[in-house]
Amino acid sequence: NNQKSDSRGALIVLEGLDRSGKTSQSCRLLSYLEGLGHPVESWRFPDRNTGVGQMISAYLANKSQLDDHAIHLLFSANRWEKRSLMESKLRSGTTLIVDRYSFSGVAFSSAKGLDFEWCKAPEMGLPAPDLVLYLEIPPEVICSIIMFVGEIRKAAERGGYGGERYEQLEFQKKVARSYQMLYDASWKAIDAGLPIEDVEKQLREMVIWRSQTFDLKFLVLGSL
Ligand code: TYD
Repeated sequence: NNQKSDSRGALIVLEGLDRSGKTSQSCRLLSYLEGLGHPVESWRFPDRNTGVGQMISAYLANKSQLDDHAIHLLFSANRWEKRSLMESKLRSGTTLIVDRYSFSGVAFSSAKGLDFEWCKAPEMGLPAPDLVLYLEIPPEVICSIIMFVGEIRKAAERGGYGGERYEQLEFQKKVARSYQMLYDASWKAIDAGLPIEDVEKQLREMVIWRSQTFDLKFLVLGSL
């Protein structure tokens, strides 16, 4: 149901390659909106706290093996198990800033070679975001960050780099291509290679810009 009631919260999704800065930016956006007095929460997928989330977590840490289709459906199930709470929050006027959503599901699984349309199917019917903020950064840059962090971890004797299963250059390149196929009018790309404060400023502007473009009172943001 795409109807936008005057009082509902906005569903704002952050997407991007691994380590593109989504997590710190979603924290910053959260405090910004909170500071303006909006009811707002920050969520993330996978939500590793649920039973399904724990299976996903074990898989990502290479502690379990799963068929590519099976893990895809688990990621999706992880969103479905949060659907009613997500909907009730939005309906009650709370804006949600969500770090990764269905687009990650489709981009990562199709990058492994699964059929694009097949990947999209289980996502159909989940709440549609009002705005997708895509933190864009070349896969090569991401990979140097991953290696740099890995070196630090190694130096601290906390294990090597490329820690999680998906942190490899070729794979990240494919994910970036899949993301491009998902772009639509609700997307806004931001250059995530800019200094963190500049990215933050742009994200704020996007959120406000979007609120002015649509006649949405979910635009708790519209009051700005
Ligand atoms: P996440 O916990 O966001 O890790 P990070 O903070 O390192 O970005 O996501 C873990 C990995 O799971 C990440 O590589 C993206 C991938 N992923 C999917 O493959 N499908 C999905 O549906 C989601 C939400 C994430």
